[in-house]
Amino acid sequence: MPDALFFNGRFTTTAERVLGVEDRGFQFGDGVYEVFKFVSRTPKFLAEHFGRLDDGLREIEIPNPWPGVGSFAATMRELLERTEFDDGIVYLQVTRGEAERAHFWPDNMTPTVVAYSRRFNFPDAAKKERGIRVITAPDLRWKHCDVKSVNLLGNAIAKKKAQRAGADEAVLIEEGIVREGAGSSFFAVIDGRVITHPLDEHILPGVVRDRVIDLAIAAKIRVDERPLREAELFTLVEAFITSTTQGVMPVAEIDGRIIGNSRRGEVTTELQRRFDELERALQ
Ligand code: PDD
Repeated sequence: MPDALFFNGRFTTTAERVLGVEDRGFQFGDGVYEVFKFVSRTPKFLAEHFGRLDDGLREIEIPNPWPGVGSFAATMRELLERTEFDDGIVYLQVTRGEAERAHFWPDNMTPTVVAYSRRFNFPDAAKKERGIRVITAPDLRWKHCDVKSVNLLGNAIAKKKAQRAGADEAVLIEEGIVREGAGSSFFAVIDGRVITHPLDEHILPGVVRDRVIDLAIAAKIRVDERPLREAELFTLVEAFITSTTQGVMPVAEIDGRIIGNSRRGEVTTELQRRFDELERALQ
């Protein structure tokens, strides 16, 4: 079913074929993207997503098509008004633009901008209690994972491996260190403390990650932003992942090993409750 599509400053529908074959997003993965959630047509954490988009664009020297968060929000709200449904996600992508294929790009290119909505089955209460299965997989991604690059081949391979193993997510391991999920941030809970990888080029600065850290601190739960060793995974009794689509989601199993008697851990339960409350309150 065609739906509303924002493309290079105008609204059309997904039925229109808008991209050229020499778009650098298609040929080089030369662009960045964002995914945000909306409920009752209200976007969640829009300013945070815009901030990350702006950082990523600056890092790879693509001009931001929106002068500021206000005009970005106006575009996204108009997209949501034109969308056929009330709840879902928006996928938005900015590439360097279209040019005759060559590795070096011409100066002063005009970025290609697309944004459209998708329906999404957000986890229900039972899934949020049950949690997910994860496997470990090697981190095959490029070296600037802080940029939300459309180059998702490494992530896609890991996710496919997880799916084939009957799991929901792959946790990416590099040099014996747990980086993050293929599409989520990873948290361990050890002795009541929350442990997650520090912000650097090895992980994406997750919007939900940052909110959950703040919520943990507010709840007087100690947070250690430090690399977790792969070996520590084997002794975990509580872990969770976070993302825009999953919120705070317990990890029930890692590589077939059951975590915490298959029961959602206490810290996870508390942070999930606090995060859902925060998200719901956003207007
Ligand atoms: N993925 N790490 C990676 C590699 C991700 O792809 C994502 C999100 C996250 C969590 O970020 P956030 O909390 O901002 O959603 C961490 C999105 C949802 C996706 O690619 O669909």
